[in-house]
Amino acid sequence: MVPSFIDFSNNHIVITGAASGMGRLFALTFLGLGARVAAWDIDSEGLARLVESGKSVPSPTENHLHVYTCDLADNDSILQAAEETLRDFGHVDILLNNAGVVNGNWISELSDQDIEKTFAVNALAPFRVTKAFLPEMISRGKGHVVTIASAGAFVGTPKLADYSASKSAAVAFDESLRLEMKHLGHPVKTTLICPFYVDTGMFSGVKTRFSWLLPILSSEFVVKKTVRAIYTGKKRLIMPRFVLAVFLIRVLPVAWFDALITFFGISCSMDDFEGRKRPPVHSDKP
Ligand SMILES: NC(=O)c1ccc[n+]([C@@H]2O[C@H](COP(=O)([O-])OP(=O)(O)OC[C@H]3O[C@@H](n4cnc5c(N)ncnc54)[C@H](OP(=O)(O)O)[C@@H]3O)[C@@H](O)[C@H]2O)c1
Repeated sequence: MVPSFIDFSNNHIVITGAASGMGRLFALTFLGLGARVAAWDIDSEGLARLVESGKSVPSPTENHLHVYTCDLADNDSILQAAEETLRDFGHVDILLNNAGVVNGNWISELSDQDIEKTFAVNALAPFRVTKAFLPEMISRGKGHVVTIASAGAFVGTPKLADYSASKSAAVAFDESLRLEMKHLGHPVKTTLICPFYVDTGMFSGVKTRFSWLLPILSSEFVVKKTVRAIYTGKKRLIMPRFVLAVFLIRVLPVAWFDALITFFGISCSMDDFEGRKRPPVHSDKP
């Protein structure tokens, strides 16, 4: 449950990757908090299911959910969805760059298309979608860009080379945007979210060695913490806190770093990765 003092009434929120997993939960949660939500996804059937679920969300104001089928790997598709969103909503207060993809394969097994798609969705799309809304946010003097990266951005992991590299790019994008807005005096806020593995099904089959230190997080927990971070204007949220230890052990010699990453089970965490093999389980719980 999101604390009752949190209210997003009159906020216009764009959420990418909103047809399943955390994006879907974000959409239903923000609707329940009074926001107008523009839900973007490549999965039009999933968006139709979201519309059905959205109808039963109790909201302090009238529910406003618009859905847009959009391929975030294609800039023309992004520009079209942005144009339609601005036509329907007038302006955007919060952009939630949430969509992501994972291949979960060895570097030698990844095709060029696999790698390019990962970078297009995880790294280029946050740039492109933000660029589509940033000028309007700057001219209005109000806006908030939220980027869902990953704890995988901070440590290279076997079978996650393309994913980790693309999420590192997303982290650098968030940091540059934050500093650039400050440098130029634009009151556009940023929030970076970096969770460890989450139970949405995107990473099904992954394992963790020390679950008390590095638990597989529930999507409800991550969404609740993220909504609160957005509301309070927190600039960075890393979950769980133990992930921060990576920054400390980076000062050690590389051989020690590698030994510790292996000891904590990160190197073998993807050994039994399956990913999403069947349609995602859609929880209606906001
Ligand atoms: N799950 C985790 O363990 C975990 C951990 C850390 C960070 N994250 C990050 O958190 C975010 C949400 O993850 P999640 O687990 O909720 O993922 P998810 O359940 O797989 O949802 C991602 C959504 O993005 C959509 N999408 C994929 N490619 C797209 C494209 N080209 N254009 C438009 N939409 C596209 C997917 O549609 P399809 O289903 O049709 O592909 C899906 O609806 C991602 O950025 C992910 O990298 C996840």
